[in-house]
Amino acid sequence: MSSLTDDLQTIQSQSLQEVERIISLEELETLRLKFLGRKDGLLTKVLQALPTLSPAERKDVGRQANEVKKALETALENRRQAIEDAQIAQSLAKESIDLTLPGTPVLRGKLHPLTQVLEEIVSVFTRLGFNLAEGPEVETDDNNFTALNHPPDHPARDAHDTFYLKDLKDESGLPLLLRTHTSPVQIRYMRTHQPPLYIVAPGRVFRHEAVDATHSFVFHQVEGLAVDKDISMADLKGMLTLFAQHLFGPGAEIRFRPSYFPFVEPGIEVDISCTLCGGKGCRVCKQSGWLEMLGAGLVNPNVFRAVGYDPRKVTGYAFGIGVERVAMFKYGVDDMRLFFDNDIRFLQQF
Ligand code: DAH
Repeated sequence: MSSLTDDLQTIQSQSLQEVERIISLEELETLRLKFLGRKDGLLTKVLQALPTLSPAERKDVGRQANEVKKALETALENRRQAIEDAQIAQSLAKESIDLTLPGTPVLRGKLHPLTQVLEEIVSVFTRLGFNLAEGPEVETDDNNFTALNHPPDHPARDAHDTFYLKDLKDESGLPLLLRTHTSPVQIRYMRTHQPPLYIVAPGRVFRHEAVDATHSFVFHQVEGLAVDKDISMADLKGMLTLFAQHLFGPGAEIRFRPSYFPFVEPGIEVDISCTLCGGKGCRVCKQSGWLEMLGAGLVNPNVFRAVGYDPRKVTGYAFGIGVERVAMFKYGVDDMRLFFDNDIRFLQQF
């Protein structure tokens, strides 16, 4: 009998000691089974032996056994709690975030500088009431040249270094071409609309030219056309002044120089005062204080005739802005090729 009491004491001291050394929940469960397992737990066995004892002994040993069981259960529970707390503390330490660290930068996409400038140019005019017009990049000879007062064999055609699509012909058997300017959109629009009309037509144009710092075989223009009654050079100058001041600041000035384009008469070239040097003269404006920016003029009566308008009833102005030129002057970029290389380090600056 006293041997059971001894057993219980051994079980108690042994189990309580072992509990303290446990560091994982799995080991803890193994230990629980070792002493309290239903079938052959050491303590369970003592309890199973109780019915063989005399009533008096059974009472004493039974009480002692229950105390050992309670003590062990409490120890197991405390240990389980301690292990879980340690695990939580460990994963918190591992997952902790230093909120003062700089974040991972997220690169945001943005519009290409040429698109930005093109949209800015267009918006100056659309906000003044101009409509947006568009035309295809593959054009007919008539839209690109003849209706714009470049008859066949007219020497002005030579200035355009045209890409012809030799296997594709229009209705009159002439080869289609890649438009050399956005001016054909004037023809398309006037043939489908009646005056008064005010439009801007942005787009890509193509010329068979060698690529260098100021030339490319593909570039962008924004065409403008206003047709109404009594339109004069003064209207054109007012509109282009607004344009220049919007893009280059309120101090920008413009000047007109006589020039020649078959579809306007008179034709002019428009300079904008150099915004980089304020007109004093610098590398970009080649010391002249002025930047050549666009071509313009009053619509030639022959163009009105070609689209079926009566030149005695309507007048108009037209202009063609080179988007790359404007972007180069606006940002002080001295090589047009940079816009087409698409080097992300260049593009990110805009
Ligand atoms: N189409 C001309 C070119 O690409 C630019 C131009 C000049 C457009 C005068 C116009 C204009 O509308 O009036 O060289």
